[in-house]
Amino acid sequence: MRIAFFDSGLGGISVLHEAMKQLPHEDFLYFADTLHVPYGTKPKDEVLAFVKKAVETISKEDVKALVIACNTATSIAIAELRNMYEMPIIGMEPAVKPALAMNRSSGKRVLVLATPLTLKQSKYRELVSRIDDMGMVDSLPMPDLVEFCEQLNVDSQQIIDYFHSQLEPFDLSMYGTVVLGCTHYPFFRRALKKVLPDHIQIVDGSAGTVNRLIQLLSDRDLLLGRGHSELKWMCSNEDPTYLEKMEKALKIFGVVGV
Ligand code: SIN
Repeated sequence: MRIAFFDSGLGGISVLHEAMKQLPHEDFLYFADTLHVPYGTKPKDEVLAFVKKAVETISKEDVKALVIACNTATSIAIAELRNMYEMPIIGMEPAVKPALAMNRSSGKRVLVLATPLTLKQSKYRELVSRIDDMGMVDSLPMPDLVEFCEQLNVDSQQIIDYFHSQLEPFDLSMYGTVVLGCTHYPFFRRALKKVLPDHIQIVDGSAGTVNRLIQLLSDRDLLLGRGHSELKWMCSNEDPTYLEKMEKALKIFGVVGV
């Protein structure tokens, strides 16, 4: 049985890569909803319907757990999906808590980058109001990054200029950590490092999500300790060139042994 990863497009590959590193004997399935990417700039009800349809398709495969490797889809749909399916479903959470902990001694602020739809959801607002008792968290939607990532345009001068223009209103000397609250954004780590002052650390939620996945599989005695790993790519528009693009995107994070 496979561990399935789902995203609107290429973004969830950043989480898949982390899982492949940590779980070298598991079989994986990655599904991209290429008919509807991007999610983060669309109305909530529309995205909810897309996510439900995609998960219905995935559930017909031989799947033992599902990772919603998309912050936008998680914040909108995870509660409903967990009521609909028996398999363990793991979602993404912007790494605001670790970011606040990292800044505790410096007193510096946290900047969360995510899609407009994620930042609007009560799931995000409740997370921040629960843990940010000192009012240290700011957020910034970066809607264009998903489109850039889908073109695998992740480290060009256009990206550097985009970051400069978006971050211009912020006094970056006040910030200690930037949180990547969309799974597409880790593709831009290298570009972002060129733009941010050296003292700012960049964090994302991939490792936290994969640790939770491992814990859930282990609790159910579903982890594989030996054997080859296989990876199956799927996308909702069944475009063979997109399947190649997904392979290319995975390699951006480094080679893993499949
Ligand atoms: C998007 O499709 O807009 C990105 C989804 C996400 O990872 O938040």
